[in-house]
Amino acid sequence: MEPLPMEEPRRILIVSANPLFAQGLRRLSENWAGRRGEVVSITKNMAETLQAMDTLQPDLVIVDYDDETIYRDEFLSHFVASNRPMQVMLVSLRGGGEVVVYDRQTLTPSQAEERMKMPWPAAVPPEESISPRKTNMRHLVTAAVLVVLTTFLAYLGLTKANLLPVNASAQATPIDNLFNIHFIAMAFLFALIVVFMLYSVVVFRQRPGDDEDAAHVTGNNKLEIAWTILPLLTVLGVALYGARNLGETVRIDPDAMVINVTGGQWFWSFEYPDTGVISQTLALPVNRQVLLRMSSRDVIHSFWVPEFRVKQDLLPGENMIKELRITPTRVGQYELLCAEMCGVSHAYMTSQVLVMEDADFSAWMQQQSAGATADPVALGEKVAKDNGCTACHSVDGKPSVGPTWKGLYGSQRPLEDGTTVQADDDYLYRSIVDPHAQIAQGFPGTVMPNNYEEVLEQDQIRDVIEFIKSLK
Ligand code: CUA
Repeated sequence: MEPLPMEEPRRILIVSANPLFAQGLRRLSENWAGRRGEVVSITKNMAETLQAMDTLQPDLVIVDYDDETIYRDEFLSHFVASNRPMQVMLVSLRGGGEVVVYDRQTLTPSQAEERMKMPWPAAVPPEESISPRKTNMRHLVTAAVLVVLTTFLAYLGLTKANLLPVNASAQATPIDNLFNIHFIAMAFLFALIVVFMLYSVVVFRQRPGDDEDAAHVTGNNKLEIAWTILPLLTVLGVALYGARNLGETVRIDPDAMVINVTGGQWFWSFEYPDTGVISQTLALPVNRQVLLRMSSRDVIHSFWVPEFRVKQDLLPGENMIKELRITPTRVGQYELLCAEMCGVSHAYMTSQVLVMEDADFSAWMQQQSAGATADPVALGEKVAKDNGCTACHSVDGKPSVGPTWKGLYGSQRPLEDGTTVQADDDYLYRSIVDPHAQIAQGFPGTVMPNNYEEVLEQDQIRDVIEFIKSLK
């Protein structure tokens, strides 16, 4: 380096619009590294600076590199155009106080030769030599691998969590296939969001001392087209697959066995038209399609056996019969639920479902047929059960939705209006056909349906009364 004569103080020009910065530099530079310096001027903008460089001939120009009003390129081109020995230092308070030094020196041939022997600056470390494009690709590939891995683990978790009950019908399989597609989609979307979020939080977190702004990204057409087209194709594909699977669940077997299903507040009743058997239990032969023809006696109910997957609403009204086809594939005992909010005892509107081998089913049917009897008490008990009476009226004295039938006949009944009535045959008959006329004390609601006169035959009502009379 060409030594400057020691006796001559260094002529320093400070360029900064920030007075604090300028004063700090002035104090620092007047005795920099043991060398005397003289601040010849402090300039605040480009015009002043360029003029001062020409007129004051400084040896050293110290520039506030954070000052955005100083146009670095214009400044440097002026420096290059000049041929005076001069140093320019760009000093930044941000980015860890970096100083960039531009130096112009005039060297003798021997000095130049010495200079050439000086070691070159160390090679740039390899990770910085990788282009940003390659680094981005590396992040993308790492994240993609993590997404695939997380998708797999999340899918494994979903399938191992036993979210679905056992598959017990031919109609359950296409439904489960759709569930499977959803589990895959859920696992993938979960992985996509969580992996990219956590990867960014960990890998691109703010390091100490880094207060630089991130790159400003305004848009990416390719990415936007991709994230529009791919979900569209996915949704269309799932719709097509869903339609095909829906078709599977309603496939008709011409040999299907018909069962008439009645739902009411709050009971289920099943009639087998081939044999005339009526039952509260839904008995089904395995591996044979049944056609359930369903109607409601009062409000909307919904037939749902989770193990069969398929579900169908029961609607009240004439000619409002709804159909559901089920092919049980697994012998066992299941529970029929009502899946439509239908009143106070909705939650208890359940029934047993028995799927049996053919021989067992035939035996069950024989037993049911033989159960028919001429005893009015037994007939009344069956009518009461088939029509849901005993869903609300206990026969053992336990409290329930309606008054118990045990010990009812012949007792004195206090009514809501304060009067008392003798529970004789006439009272029981009126209570069945017009339940809202005389309301028993303690049961102020009008929960009981008042359509039993239409639903039941007169001799069925007589049989029910005989059954109530037998409960002493
Ligand atoms: Cu019937 Cu809920």
